[in-house]
Amino acid sequence: MNKCMIAPSILSADFARLGDEVEAVLEAGADVIHFDVMDNHYVPNLSFGPMICEALRKHGITAPIDVHLMVSPVDDLIEQFAEAGASYISFHPEASQHVDRSLQLIEDAGCEPGLVLNPATPLHYLDHVMDKLHHILVMSVNPGFGGQAFIPSTLDKLRQVKQRVVASGRDIRIEIDGGVKVDNIREIAEAGADMFVAGSAIFNADDYGEVIDAMRREIAA
Ligand code: DX5
Ligand code: ZN
Repeated sequence: MNKCMIAPSILSADFARLGDEVEAVLEAGADVIHFDVMDNHYVPNLSFGPMICEALRKHGITAPIDVHLMVSPVDDLIEQFAEAGASYISFHPEASQHVDRSLQLIEDAGCEPGLVLNPATPLHYLDHVMDKLHHILVMSVNPGFGGQAFIPSTLDKLRQVKQRVVASGRDIRIEIDGGVKVDNIREIAEAGADMFVAGSAIFNADDYGEVIDAMRREIAA
């Protein structure tokens, strides 16, 4: 099994001190920085774009940056994020005109491609593209906001995604995003996830390291 990765979502960070916040979660043991891009079109909220990603790289952040595109159209932003220093780029298949092409654009730009499945998005979007995926991001809330409650039916979906990944024989990460907390991360891991996005659970805490350590203990238990 892949090493489990903790990916704090900076959507819940203090934007006025973003560089320090990212350094702090990395020092606290985070593996990846989750970067939520919202366009007020595909989702009803607006966040940040490639300039902020580039600013983090210029600030000296070398950890993987996991760009989660909640935008439509998708393709225009891929090259920009690759140039800005993104490591992984995922998008929602309903938001792309040509899913295979968008995945290929991400790979051609030198990043790791992923597809995002909303709570009501069927798994058949994975058909025919498993060979192009580095990760599958399973949404456990509807996209657009931090701080929402985990949708329980996601656990069954995770098990189904895990089965597909195993059947494919490929080394594809399964990422979970939305409402992940210390008290539910164990059952999420048991259902098949190995990359865990957590925004409010980490950034709303006084001690980021305490939360990340507690999450790792739960996953390992
Ligand atoms: C929601 C975003 C999430 C969000 C997670 O659209 O994709 O990454 O920031 O936040 P929490 O962990 O607070 O649910
Ligand atoms: Zn996200």
